Amino acid sequence: MKILHASSEVFPYSKTGGLADATAALARAQAAAGHSVTLVTPLYRGIRDTFPGLEPLGQAELPAKVWRLDPEPNLTVLFIDEPEWFDRDGLYGHVDDAERFIFFSKCVVRLAKHVEIVHAHDWQSGLVMPLLANEPVGKIFTIHNAAYQGRFPADKFALTGLPDAYFDSRQLEFHGDMNLLKGGVVSADLVTTVSPRYARELLTGEYGCGLEGVFQSRDDALSGVLNGVDYTEWNTMDNPHLAAAYSADSPGGKAANKRALQHELGLPLLDNAPLFGNISRFTDQKGIDILLGALKEQLDGGAVFQFAGLGSGDPSLEQAMSRLAKRHPEQVAVKIGYDTGLAHRIEAGSDFYVMPSRFEPCGLNQLYSLRYGSVPVVRTTGGLDDSVIDLGQGEDTATGIKFGDCSAAALGQALGQALDLFAEPKRLARVRDNGMRADFSWRQTTAQYDRLYAKIKKPAA
Ligand code: ADP
Ligand code: GLC
Repeated sequence: MKILHASSEVFPYSKTGGLADATAALARAQAAAGHSVTLVTPLYRGIRDTFPGLEPLGQAELPAKVWRLDPEPNLTVLFIDEPEWFDRDGLYGHVDDAERFIFFSKCVVRLAKHVEIVHAHDWQSGLVMPLLANEPVGKIFTIHNAAYQGRFPADKFALTGLPDAYFDSRQLEFHGDMNLLKGGVVSADLVTTVSPRYARELLTGEYGCGLEGVFQSRDDALSGVLNGVDYTEWNTMDNPHLAAAYSADSPGGKAANKRALQHELGLPLLDNAPLFGNISRFTDQKGIDILLGALKEQLDGGAVFQFAGLGSGDPSLEQAMSRLAKRHPEQVAVKIGYDTGLAHRIEAGSDFYVMPSRFEPCGLNQLYSLRYGSVPVVRTTGGLDDSVIDLGQGEDTATGIKFGDCSAAALGQALGQALDLFAEPKRLARVRDNGMRADFSWRQTTAQYDRLYAKIKKPAA
């Protein structure tokens, strides 16, 4: 099949979170499976310096210059080069984000000739779906996070070039504003999100972010497909970021990674204290406040453990995390910032990976932590619930520890369970081994998308 993806971030060219990993890995897996895949994304500042192999597309009549890269067989990445919109620091959060991503979506549409499937991701590409409403192409829209909707004042609607009839409550209009995520949801042939449980959660007032009615109206078209992991990127055997190689079959090297991490972060080199890890965007979604509460409670109670954190975002959470590290330098180490290498080393060096998300459409870090032998401690929501098997199921199958309540007390209890598990090395080894052998590769995921594409595919023009 000829497939075109539109995504505002693609690893390794740009990334703020899992969207970049998910779209890059999906495209690679589809290309490897024999599809002909094009990925369209903005040319942000710095990409051409880091990837000097980019070549001009050399196609006239496009609204912007377009660069291409063919990183592997069957896969072409197209970069929209419009310095006015994309040559600046930071991917999002600019006052003219409406202009920037409406422009991007219009470019995508111009590039979407001669394909059978157009697959758009998140609000930044949502407009692609209504712009293609009357085109003979299969349209699929994936929601990676319904909390970000691309909601803009009504006067921005004129920029879309859509007929006025589209500024309607059954289309892009939402409480008097324009809503680009909603535009994607209502105009796509099929809508997916990144886990089955989040697909169900979206229908509820608790998780629908105000769009639950819209999701309900598309219930027949909506399904959840769990993201996979790119195990060539996230692997423990051949990884330049790690101190030692290890795997389920030879787990010995994990201990060296723990010591290396402790050393890097200035923590005492203790083998007999469990090390908890977390890597997050510091937003409400990730439950960092809950994590802080639970860590404090454990520290005050005298529990013996260490914590390694990496993240950035909400300044008050950054400060609170840094304060905790200052107060407990023997037990808590926190790096504020963005650091891919350290993210790998935290996954590899920690015994447990803590993810107390309020909501989590899929979550990739718990999937990485499973492979890295860092037992996930997660809240039962979205993809976290779908990908981790709780200790309560018995250690023959368990891969992690789950808790339900969105509170420091509930997480504290789960951390207590983790401390108990750590005190029983045989049981811990079993649970860790189950997780390391679990397979979340994209093979299964691409097969599910294949089935969805087959339903909506139109013959190529
Ligand atoms: P989300 O997309 O909601 O942020 P995911 O779990 O899907 O959550 O993906 C997060 C991705 O971003 C992971 O690859 C994670 O390692 C990475 N990441 C998040 N924060 C940082 C950071 N501060 N430094 C390095 N990588 C980070
Ligand atoms: C979003 C979600 C995250 C998901 C990622 C990739 O950023 O917050 O849960 O894993 O997209 O789909």
